[in-house]
Amino acid sequence: MRNLLILLLLTGLLTACGGGAEESATSESKSEPATTAAAEPAKKETPAKKGAGVTIELNAGDDMQYDTKLITVDAGKSVTVNLTHTGQMAKEVMGHNFVLLNEYTDVDDFAAAAMKAKDNDYIPESDEIIAHTGMIGGGETTSVTFDAPAKGTYDFLCTFPGHYGVMKGKFIVQ
Ligand code: CO
Repeated sequence: MRNLLILLLLTGLLTACGGGAEESATSESKSEPATTAAAEPAKKETPAKKGAGVTIELNAGDDMQYDTKLITVDAGKSVTVNLTHTGQMAKEVMGHNFVLLNEYTDVDDFAAAAMKAKDNDYIPESDEIIAHTGMIGGGETTSVTFDAPAKGTYDFLCTFPGHYGVMKGKFIVQ
């Protein structure tokens, strides 16, 4: 009986530790991109400052959906995309990333190549990638900063196998 109690206690402790570690990892990665000052919509009224930054908050959960399927930025801006996985599932089963492709990339072909790149977090060898984040699981955040490409309409997607069918959107540079 006593042994059982100890076992239960230990199990509880282990669970608590696991949860704690996840939380601290999250807050760490969240505090990383602290340059959110430039993200306020009010700044849009300022005449286009060359090189001024814009921050896009993008979320995706266990429902395998981005909360935004249309991202619009001004040409000449530095763009930071903060991708947050708002779900709980591990990256091995419900991984999410953000991959931005060149304007005339065949997205079907690219997604097929990405599926084979498991060893590289599903980022294939390709010169069609403008920018991409890491692959994350529930509770994690990842960021990427890049210069907005030339004016045009670009595709972004999650390259985790099977996600591209619904996890995709348009990235417009105006
Ligand atoms: Co995904």
